[in-house]
Amino acid sequence: MESAIAPELRCPRTRDRRIGEDFIPSFPAWTARDDAHSTQCVMAYFGVQWRTPAHEVDALIILDEFLHLFQGEGGALNVEQARFVDKAGWNNLVTIGYWPTPEAYETWWRTHQGWWNDPAREASDVGLYREIFLPHKTHLETLFNTNNEFEGVGTILGSFSDSPIQEHSYWGGMRDRLPASQTDELHSSGERRIVEKNGQRLTILGHQGMTLIRSGQDCSLMQTAERELYFTRIEPTLIQGMNFLRDEGLAIGCYFNRFMRICADRGGKAERSFGMSVWHTLSDLEHWAEHHPTHKAIFNEFLTVVQALKGQLELRVFHEVAVLHSDNQIFEYIGCHPETGMLNGLVATS
Ligand code: HEM
Repeated sequence: MESAIAPELRCPRTRDRRIGEDFIPSFPAWTARDDAHSTQCVMAYFGVQWRTPAHEVDALIILDEFLHLFQGEGGALNVEQARFVDKAGWNNLVTIGYWPTPEAYETWWRTHQGWWNDPAREASDVGLYREIFLPHKTHLETLFNTNNEFEGVGTILGSFSDSPIQEHSYWGGMRDRLPASQTDELHSSGERRIVEKNGQRLTILGHQGMTLIRSGQDCSLMQTAERELYFTRIEPTLIQGMNFLRDEGLAIGCYFNRFMRICADRGGKAERSFGMSVWHTLSDLEHWAEHHPTHKAIFNEFLTVVQALKGQLELRVFHEVAVLHSDNQIFEYIGCHPETGMLNGLVATS
């Protein structure tokens, strides 16, 4: 067993972990190690949204044009597409990808930003958004319950921890896995605001300490008994929790939440889903995970099943969490409805 914090990021602690030195997790889990030891990486979400089926064709044309750029020279790694229906009932298709460094992203963006900035992007009934997160590695943590396949940002980091990690399977593990938490309370400060309005385009500035989570599920390996349990006991509760955050999350510090399914019909791997949300602060996310009845129930169910199956679980779960500096975030919305992403609660709904 080893610490989740990579050796090169360990430092003398001024903050205690929630566990003692002799803590043994109830099941094994691994974290992704950054073989390149770079200081920052990029997580990018580009979305299209449309209200009625009549606009779907336009949306897909725009998305395909964009995908071509996204996957072109210098483009993103581990590109996936996922769909969800949002709070306002609009359909959304999101293209997600990662770059190993901000410089690699910037080089790509400089070549292709003309497409994004083209007034043609404002001329349809399809909304577009880009939400880019540039976390420092000191403020990023990942967790996987298996060590045979990467997901999400793990794909660009390089390898799994050599052995299972110690800081997990208890409330507070997420914070203890973040290298910065050794010395920093990871408080939030400031407020998000609109910094630019240009026709249909809105640019939002985030704030210090905003927190992103992508928490994924891979159901493709599950056989009959576990599948039955997952789809009757775990997923319905998960969806309730996701809908709560989507519809009522603002009151508890969740700016937006999306429960997305990877598009197998657009080349994605089958039976994968994930929740993705952005929070005012790490502690708001912690509080929901630890206290909301839906996640508490899922957490307990998961631990019970792991124990019953003696760790031979077929459900694969992973998550990545980033606490962001105020200059690690780019949010731009073109012709989107007012409850989209970071606009939610910031722009008046009519
Ligand atoms: C932690 C189960 C979905 C948010 C955990 C842990 C388990 C778990 C077992 C403890 C992990 C560890 O430290 O070893 C599940 C299952 C899910 C699911 C089975 C789906 C089927 C989600 C989703 C979100 C979420 C969609 C939010 C978008 C969190 C957070 C923690 C956590 C924030 C960290 C809590 C802490 O360490 O203080 N979950 N979860 N989970 N989960 Fe989930």
